[in-house]
Amino acid sequence: MTKLQQLPNAIAFFLALSSSSFAQTTPSPEAQALIEELGLRAATAPVANRPDWRPRNVAVLVLPLPGIDVDEFKQALHKAADGTDITFLKPGDSSETQAQVLKSTDGFIGLCTPSVLKQAGQNLRWIHNYFVGMDMCKGYSETQLDTITITNTKRLSGPAIAEHAIAMLLALTRDVPAYVRAQTERRFQRSPQTGMKFGELKNKTMLVVGLGGIGTEIARRAHGLGMRVIATRRSSRAGPDFVERVGLSNELHDMAAEADVIANALPLTSETAGIFNRDFFDATKRGAIFLSVGRGKSTVTADLVTALESGQLGAAGLDVTDPEPLPKSSPLWDMPNVIITPHVAAASADTFRRGQIIAVENLRRFATGTPLLNEVDLRKGY
Ligand SMILES: NC(=O)c1ccc[n+]([C@@H]2O[C@H](COP(=O)([O-])OP(=O)(O)OC[C@H]3O[C@@H](n4cnc5c(N)ncnc54)[C@H](OP(=O)(O)O)[C@@H]3O)[C@@H](O)[C@H]2O)c1
Repeated sequence: MTKLQQLPNAIAFFLALSSSSFAQTTPSPEAQALIEELGLRAATAPVANRPDWRPRNVAVLVLPLPGIDVDEFKQALHKAADGTDITFLKPGDSSETQAQVLKSTDGFIGLCTPSVLKQAGQNLRWIHNYFVGMDMCKGYSETQLDTITITNTKRLSGPAIAEHAIAMLLALTRDVPAYVRAQTERRFQRSPQTGMKFGELKNKTMLVVGLGGIGTEIARRAHGLGMRVIATRRSSRAGPDFVERVGLSNELHDMAAEADVIANALPLTSETAGIFNRDFFDATKRGAIFLSVGRGKSTVTADLVTALESGQLGAAGLDVTDPEPLPKSSPLWDMPNVIITPHVAAASADTFRRGQIIAVENLRRFATGTPLLNEVDLRKGY
């Protein structure tokens, strides 16, 4: 782009700054605390550098979720907007209303779905997706891929999902499901399984597959329980000091052979679809426990069932399955060594509250043209 072509952006950026003498120029203390605690990353370049960046108006879908005070959320958005107009949408709005708003908006905070991408007008330059998984954000044109910056809520559900993963793990190793079943029948009966086969978590090895926001929080907690933690990432071997070794995706099978517990915290991408298949389960230690909190389609369900039936896997804790909902006919329902939860690991008032804080913070950044948090590369899929 020539300097002349950049001029409208430069002017818009200057005007935005000069009209914002009362603008919030730094993150709120709660946003700053989250950025530091969960390691949220800002884009390398200011959003004002993007072609035709214009923060004139932003549409916000307000979801009445636990932990969210809708009025407080709207006030915080107005404060952050710095003169940018906000149009609020709600879940019950008709498709026509949404289409009317999206036709002319510069930014959208809500859910990135095929219908949003279809209804978006030519001005749309930013979508902040309340979901972490980008598998619903489909149907974009090549032009949209180049012109719309996408951000999401990655890392924000890490604490809740990590607690859920550890809850499933401890329940499996201590045979809690058998005792809950006995309790509903008022039976005071010792299970022959408790603590026997697997033993204790201390000094066992956990492999976290996908050391992102969720994977890091699982690793932190597993380390806190005395486990040795190893992990994989796609693009780097860097990791926190509580992870002993970080490998790349092509080391997955070798690392699985070392692990007593494997946790899937991967995004669903073209590279990760079906990655937990027969070859993978053949490579695990016999009797390993498999936890899955990323996306169900990373696992080949038939191969998972075979591995559990043969004892190659000792147990599984599944928050995500393929398909969802899991059909009544699935043999997984009847397995005493399997815990299934219906894709709820992230659900917590604290997760939603963190999502609210970061939506407000990213609106502030969009309005003032500074680098956005949690940018997604749709070509990579996360
Ligand atoms: N169960 C639920 O309710 C629930 C809720 C929220 C999210 N999720 C799922 O969890 C996923 C992860 O969320 P997050 O917040 O942790 O996202 P994130 O911070 O973006 O982390 C994704 C991690 O996966 C790694 N990765 C990607 N492809 C890989 C591969 N082929 N092999 C090894 N590692 C790979 C990335 O490596 P690099 O760091 O090297 O790029 C990154 O560390 C989401 O995409 C979503 O599908 C599930």
